[in-house]
Amino acid sequence: MSPIRNARIVLGVTGGIAAYKSVDLASKLVQAGATVHVILTDAGAEFVGAASFEAITQQPVHRSVFEPWRSDWHGHVSLGQLADVVVVAPATANTIAKLAHGLADDMLGTTVLATTCPLLIAPAMEHQMFHHPATQENLERLAARGVRLIGPESGRLASGEMGDGRMLEPVKIMGTIRQVLGEAGPLRGRRIVVTAAGTRERIDPIRDVGNRSSGQMGYAVVQSLVDRGAEVTLITGPASILAPVGAAVVPVESAVEMEAAVRAAVDGADALIMTAAVSDYRPDAQFSHKLKKADTGERLTIEFVTNPDIVAGIEGDALVKIGFAAETHDLLANARKKLAAKSLDMIVANDAESTIGSPVSQATFLYPDREPEMLERMPKSEVADLLADRVVELLAKRSGES
Ligand code: CTP
Repeated sequence: MSPIRNARIVLGVTGGIAAYKSVDLASKLVQAGATVHVILTDAGAEFVGAASFEAITQQPVHRSVFEPWRSDWHGHVSLGQLADVVVVAPATANTIAKLAHGLADDMLGTTVLATTCPLLIAPAMEHQMFHHPATQENLERLAARGVRLIGPESGRLASGEMGDGRMLEPVKIMGTIRQVLGEAGPLRGRRIVVTAAGTRERIDPIRDVGNRSSGQMGYAVVQSLVDRGAEVTLITGPASILAPVGAAVVPVESAVEMEAAVRAAVDGADALIMTAAVSDYRPDAQFSHKLKKADTGERLTIEFVTNPDIVAGIEGDALVKIGFAAETHDLLANARKKLAAKSLDMIVANDAESTIGSPVSQATFLYPDREPEMLERMPKSEVADLLADRVVELLAKRSGES
């Protein structure tokens, strides 16, 4: 379950054109189960209306510290005290300057001074303003105080010019909020390596063969681990989905590249989770130029050699190793064989044909020393949550043993 669910989030919206994207951000946060309290500055209200935020958040929008008196509400500090996280998006150069110097002449300023929760700031402005030494000094001052600066990105700005200053996209702001809220979770301080998607084995510069895998399961596992505070390295074959914010991403293509990346990443790690569909074979020889039909004729014969078994080759008792088995027949028997042959602490078995590319999966968790757990058919994100809970248990057990 996302740590955004039931979180109390204060969203400060200041006067930049990116404010329209903050409506989308508020909507995404509410859909994810958060209660969102919006503070709209006067300049922010020039760009978007309070009514949009009120309709989306089902909460009053705060515009002023001088709201009508209520016995349970200490206008200028209440929001800061109730928040789990405060996010300022977009944050203009003016707001950044004010926050850097602790000015408290509006609701956002007082809230930020009154809170002890994490503060995220997503700058958005023209590139000249962003690169001005005054803004840079203010950002450094905020960063030194522990404020998390997210973005800006580079690209087309409101003026039509290209440069640094675009507000980070809402989906990435959301991912950062999720990461921050999960930081104190049960996997805090744990380093976990996850492989995902299928590897590709090159035939010639424009052709390859590979295993079918969308990467959805692996990416969901990464998200569930980040949600619990783990430091995650995601080693991924080609996939067309966004990597969860917070993971260090290492893109690879072939099984041999994946093996090298895994070996480098597991040094000092606590767990390795191999969701990747690793190609068992690769062409014996790669052609340096595009194969032409005129040269190959009606048939093309390519000889394949076996790839290394990545997970089986990683040794070390301290490392918890988890594998996946997607099978077309004799599911549990095959998975059990792999659990033993690859010295795994756990394997997730599922039916290949109904799982690949699907957002849902019916998985069974198998262990060397415990009864199997047959799960219902459920979204991969839920399978990933259950798997992450098992990782917590396996790591606790491993720590207890050592
Ligand atoms: N795996 C691996 N290296 C390989 C092949 C697989 O590390 N060269 C890992 C997978 O990431 C998965 C587990 O081993 O976690 C089982 O993968 P699977 O492809 O189901 O098994 P194979 O060992 O390839 O056996 P087979 O192809 O005979 O089913």
